[in-house]
Amino acid sequence: MNAYFVTSTGTDTGKTFVTAGLIRYLRALGQPVNALKPIVAGYDPSVVETSDPAVLLKALGRQVSADEIETIAPWRFRAPLSPDMAAAREGRSIDFDKLVDVSRATIRANTGMLFIEGVGGIMVPLDGKRTVLDWMTSLNIPLLLIVGGYFGAISHTLTALDVLRQRKLTIAAIVVSESERGTVELDDTVASIARFSDGVEVVGLPRLPGGLTEHPAFARIASLL
Ligand SMILES: Nc1ncnc2c1ncn2[C@@H]1O[C@H](COP(=O)(O)OP(=O)(O)O)[C@@H](O)[C@H]1O
Ligand SMILES: [Mg+2]
Repeated sequence: MNAYFVTSTGTDTGKTFVTAGLIRYLRALGQPVNALKPIVAGYDPSVVETSDPAVLLKALGRQVSADEIETIAPWRFRAPLSPDMAAAREGRSIDFDKLVDVSRATIRANTGMLFIEGVGGIMVPLDGKRTVLDWMTSLNIPLLLIVGGYFGAISHTLTALDVLRQRKLTIAAIVVSESERGTVELDDTVASIARFSDGVEVVGLPRLPGGLTEHPAFARIASLL
């Protein structure tokens, strides 16, 4: 078993971008890799191509078909809201036990590297009493923590680290994915977080120009998994 949970301090931080980059890097080395993105909010079936499941399927070299989307992302909701709210809008709810079962079954069946991408940040509600943190705690697999490089990201990251430590979760690596229009030097953010990370490696990934999905940072991250 070589499964990692990809989580972050918030939405739009780079979880999918980093996961897709790692998938492409590992596939280029001929290593088996798979991904699961069980919950997607803000999923518009008329613009599937840019959705998280499509980005991950393309990186995996799989077809963006209805069947494949159902496999990689079984819980899809239209509204760009937290999963509990997005589900309620459709008169639905997320069955937490089923979510954990599906995640565990995928982990068990997997032979190579597996990335499970969470949804939003580490404490986004999934139902009336559970958040992503409870999902990660139930799975108890190492985390890949993706954070931003924006002004304010350091505090968000250290807050997240404190909460993750309270649950005794293992963090394999922290990735600072440089934010758009960031005003802080990426290296300074990396160095600052590293001073508080208790030895967990912090890797900086610059903002890559449109369409580019390769960078030496992916090799560095992969070496920590
Ligand atoms: N390092 C980066 N370089 C270029 N674009 C990035 C980078 N990190 C994230 N992005 C882009 O920012 C947007 C949000 O990232 P995404 O991976 O979808 O976030 P999340 O999965 O955490 O919600 C996407 O359009 C993604 O392609
Ligand atoms: Mg995503």
